[in-house]
Amino acid sequence: MSSRHNNTVVTTLQHHIMDEQRVHRPDASGEFSSVLSGITFATKIIADQVRRAGLMNILGSTGQTNIQGEVVQKLDMIANETILACLGYRDNVGIMVSEEEDEPHIIKELDERSKYIVLFDPLDGSSNIDVNVSIGTIFSILQRRSDGTDGRVMDHILQPGYNQVAAGYVIYSSSTVLAYTTGHGVHMFTLDPSIGAFLLSKENISMPVSGKTYSVNEAYKSQFPDGVQEYLDWTKTKEAGYSLRYIGSLVADFHRTLLKGGVFLYPPTQKTPEGKLRLMYEANPLAFLAEQAGGVATDGRQRILDIVPTALHERTPLVIGSKDETDRVSSFWKG
Ligand code: AHG
Ligand code: MN
Ligand code: MN
Repeated sequence: MSSRHNNTVVTTLQHHIMDEQRVHRPDASGEFSSVLSGITFATKIIADQVRRAGLMNILGSTGQTNIQGEVVQKLDMIANETILACLGYRDNVGIMVSEEEDEPHIIKELDERSKYIVLFDPLDGSSNIDVNVSIGTIFSILQRRSDGTDGRVMDHILQPGYNQVAAGYVIYSSSTVLAYTTGHGVHMFTLDPSIGAFLLSKENISMPVSGKTYSVNEAYKSQFPDGVQEYLDWTKTKEAGYSLRYIGSLVADFHRTLLKGGVFLYPPTQKTPEGKLRLMYEANPLAFLAEQAGGVATDGRQRILDIVPTALHERTPLVIGSKDETDRVSSFWKG
């Protein structure tokens, strides 16, 4: 379904989600689109806060430290509270898991009605907030298990990434762009602030199969596994001819990789031997998007989406991007 705006035919995100549902999930009762619209509503509010942060004294830190051991920025908390508020009253969301919250938010008992579990990084790239560099929100949607699992909340939450029913991100940059998948391709929308709607900008995105861009924080190179250090040495050879691009916001480095190809890697370091990035609400959703666009995501050894989580905020090494590029990293790093 589409409509006309500025005399052109446009497809809003809501239309797209309903079309997706009509084609791929005719049995769904529209409740899934209500969850996604709750998330997109929250990201419109966050986009507005991010754009005006410097004018509203909401830059800088709260002075608190979260379960990740990281200093919490004011915008981290604002984004977190916005998503909790926008999803909290959706009666089909049973549980929410946030990077900023030690424990899951049990909105209501999981049952046939409130079966969705929404996991999110409310603001990714916090170190970039105060210097006006791209940041984002990342989300992952699971359903409660229907295999007779008993009522233990963590059994329903700690599912491998291949069980995700949807995933996506919003990047707050020169424009606000949302990308999402429900398992039927990756689709991208740009927020038109004049009408407050996300309008379809790219459908069925396919990640280039190769790309001579690698994205890593090379300051930690000496702490990386030997194979990764050898890969990084190879990228600098004349025959390789690679460029380094590293924004320091995962969502922005992934957005570039999705559109232009290349590879992003955050290997284990002495400081973060399990890797820095979180499995449930950073690696899993981006891995779902990467694979839906024809790319690859591993932890250096196995497919990210196959990892069976054991803890809510567990971390993982991440190698994600074009198939040829992730294969090349694996050929050097035997995991
Ligand atoms: P968050 O702001 O949600 O804590 O995530 C920050 C992450 C990710 O966005 C980025 O790729 C990575 O931290 C950067 O880490 P380094 O500063 O160690 O390179
Ligand atoms: Mn993050
Ligand atoms: Mn974050």
